[in-house]
Amino acid sequence: GDYTGAYRPRVHYTPPKGFMNDPNGLFLDPNGTWHLYYQYNPTDVVAGNQHWGHATSPDLYRWTNQPIALFPPNATSGVFSGSAVLDPNNTSGFFPNQTDGVVAMYTLNTPTAQVQEIAYSTDGGYTFTPYEGNPVIDIGSTQFRDPKVVRYQDHWVMVIAFASEWVIGVYTSPNLIDWTHASNISHIGLLGVQYECPNLVQVPVTGSGSTKESEGWVLTISINPGAPLGGSITEYFAGEFNGTHFEPYDGAARLSNFAKDDYAGQFFYDQPVSIGWASNWQYTNEVPTANEGWRSAMTLPRKNYLNNTGLGGYELVQEIYDLSPILGNNTIPQTNLVNSTASTTLPNVSALYFDANITIPANSTFNSNAVFNFTFATGTGGESVKGGYRFAGTPANTIWLDRGNTNGFDSPFLTDKFSASQVNRATRIQGVVDRSLIEVYVDGGAVVGTMVVFPTEPLVQFDFESRNLPEGPEISFAAWELVDTWA
Ligand code: FRU
Repeated sequence: GDYTGAYRPRVHYTPPKGFMNDPNGLFLDPNGTWHLYYQYNPTDVVAGNQHWGHATSPDLYRWTNQPIALFPPNATSGVFSGSAVLDPNNTSGFFPNQTDGVVAMYTLNTPTAQVQEIAYSTDGGYTFTPYEGNPVIDIGSTQFRDPKVVRYQDHWVMVIAFASEWVIGVYTSPNLIDWTHASNISHIGLLGVQYECPNLVQVPVTGSGSTKESEGWVLTISINPGAPLGGSITEYFAGEFNGTHFEPYDGAARLSNFAKDDYAGQFFYDQPVSIGWASNWQYTNEVPTANEGWRSAMTLPRKNYLNNTGLGGYELVQEIYDLSPILGNNTIPQTNLVNSTASTTLPNVSALYFDANITIPANSTFNSNAVFNFTFATGTGGESVKGGYRFAGTPANTIWLDRGNTNGFDSPFLTDKFSASQVNRATRIQGVVDRSLIEVYVDGGAVVGTMVVFPTEPLVQFDFESRNLPEGPEISFAAWELVDTWA
């Protein structure tokens, strides 16, 4: 692939050419290599003609593009989203002589039905053979897709969307071939127009209100269209799972992102690590990156856990996965950014990572103009992306982003402004500015904003400031260039 285009992110994954959507089949192999498959149209820069593209990485940032892993059997069908598992105990029977067998389960989309198929890999996930007895599940539906498989004690568990019925089905299997419908999770959270890409996985639990358990279950559901901010978004539910039935702890729908460009996220098999698709079905087929021969990026990889806040129940915390392998030049050395400014210019348009660690003594009182703000601007032409945090006032404890002052793409759906408010004041604000993709993570990922941006010229000037803070709080601030993972 040609990764020189000005919109091409430097540290977020993008396909070599063509169109990408959902992450699929994520797993970590026994040698420590991460495998990312993805919905892929290799022949055009719009969705369609779905294959599974494939890339591998030692650290989730530096990716090597691999040959396409799954091909549709004919021109009218597509290999839709799904997942992959390791089968070291050969429960499937495909792997009599090895412990590193991989089974992928995906939806085959045809004009008349969406059926579930499996394919197995004896070479560690590089090439797959479709199972001769496919499909393994066919209920005669055209709206039945996106199987995600996990291991639960002595059996396999798969969740799947009955997309237009707003139902997530739970299936069980001893061998990944014979599947039994076990239960339904029906009409929970925000419905939108369809449910897609469910995940039901175990992640660590932390937090003041947490009891003795150290792992908890989280169900994610992606909805499209009809998200609160338009188009597509992902919601999540913490709850109990007993191997066949899931029960959410409360009836609340919580979104996994406060902006619009984070959809169809998937967890790696047996790892609390996830990646989302950093786009929105409302405009993904129109964004101007097509001029560079590609469309869509993945989010940063994230390490997840459930935080029992003791206040509003469990929140899913999506921490930025260890960035140290790609941390470059410390372009803004550590400084106390209280009521002061810090700036850097990156003329070679690298990605920038910033980290603001905020210490707020008890009894601090903030006036309504107390803010931490950032501006990322083009060299000329006056375009910019802005954002910041309000410590008080109305709305208080609020992170915001604004992509309105960019002129590279015109769509009624590319809305400008996003915000999220928290119960407690932020203690940390991190961000990655990566050409056409910007992400902010508040309080280690309790609140995440992911936003595509299309200025007509690269963002090269990065300014940070805080104003009107009282005596007492400190903001330990620093910024780094990230290494160009495609150089
Ligand atoms: C979600 C989705 C899935 C489907 C895939 C097709 O973005 O619509 O439901 O499997 O994309 O590419």
